Formats: sequence, structure tokens, C-alpha cells
Amino acid sequence: MTQLLFIVGSLHKNGFNAQLAEEAKTLIGDRADVKFLDYTDVPFFSQDIEFPNPPAAVSAARKAVVEADGVWIFSPEYNYSYPGVLKNLLDWLSRPLEPFPAQSASVLADKKVAIAGVAGPRTAAAGTLGKLAELVGFQSELLPERTGVALAPEAFGTGKLELNDGQKAELSAEVEAFLKFVA
Ligand SMILES: Cc1cc2nc3c(=O)[nH]c(=O)nc-3n(C[C@H](O)[C@H](O)[C@H](O)COP(=O)(O)O)c2cc1C
Repeated sequence: MTQLLFIVGSLHKNGFNAQLAEEAKTLIGDRADVKFLDYTDVPFFSQDIEFPNPPAAVSAARKAVVEADGVWIFSPEYNYSYPGVLKNLLDWLSRPLEPFPAQSASVLADKKVAIAGVAGPRTAAAGTLGKLAELVGFQSELLPERTGVALAPEAFGTGKLELNDGQKAELSAEVEAFLKFVA
């Protein structure tokens, strides 16, 4: 069975991106096993603590990435970019597993990664998706298809993600492309 790891780019419980990830999981159904990465205990990155024994939460996150055939990142937009907590996690995951000179590849090297985002109506997550594509594409194999959801203004009041038909079609197309990409 294909193993997928979903990473939600904010710590916002049941936030919009977490809800989009749940929608994607529903569309995937029984065609893959989907796990969500809990990275709340990953500390701020520092080169002073990465070797010889990285923090347990970092080792757990690395193991989850290694075990996944593909990783899907659902990212909010903070100031036209991705949130700092996500960058911190990706910085950890981008590092080699052994110190210089025995450096080995990071767990993100050549990993198949998809991206999607939910943000306000002005950008439809274009800021976070553009920057995330650069960051992820630097090491990993990035799925060209992506979903950028523009929230309806009233969603900020209800906290509920309601996808319109176009957004549902975009997400569904990304799901199908991702399943082919990681197969
Ligand atoms: C620090 C901060 C910066 C934000 N900047 C943007 C932005 O640049 N563009 C945007 O559309 N929404 C922005 N927002 C609003 C987020 O889209 C909104 O908080 C959303 O709920 C975050 O996604 P989440 O619920 O998945 O965590 C910002 C929110 C915060 C907290």
C-alpha cells in the first residue's frame, strides 16, 4: 500500500489547511495510507543540537518522511510566505544525517512532494505556494500540479472551509496526479 505523509504548515488546530488536508485524504480513500505528521515538539533548529544525537521529535519526523512514498504539504500564507514553524521543520528535514565529512543525503533528497495552500481571497495562497515550490524544489521532486484555495471572506468568521466546484476539481486533479507520481 502506498504510504503518504501529510504535513500541515501551521499549528492551528482544525485550521483551513488542516481541513483541506482532510478533504484530500477523503478523496484518496483506500488508495493510500495517509498519516499526518505531528511536529509540535520539534525545537527551533540549531547547529549546536543536531549532532551527534538530534532531538527525539526530529528523529521521529525524519523516520516518518523516510517511510513515506510521498509527502504532501498543506500550507497557510503568513505575510505572503509560509509560516516559520513550517520553515523550521523543513530546515531540520533538509539537513544531512551525518556531520561533515561523512555527510549523507537528507531525508528530503529526491523525495516526491506535493504542495497546496489555503489563504485569503487576495492571493489564493500564491505567495506561500511560490516560495514553498522554491524551497521544496531545491532538494525534492516537486509535483507540478498544486491547489491554491482562496477563502470566501465569510470563512474567517465561521472557521469552516467550504470548497466551490472549481476548488474541488483542482484538489481532485492534484490527488490523482499525486497518486500517479508516487506509484
Ligand atoms: C502572521 C499571519 C500572517 C498572515 N498573512 C496572510 C497573508 O499574507 N495572506 C493571506 O491570505 N492570509 C494571511 N493570514 C491569514 C491566514 O490565511 C489565516 O490565519 C488562516 O487561517 C491560516 O491558515 P490555517 O487556518 O490553515 O492555519 C495571516 C495570518 C497570520 C497569523
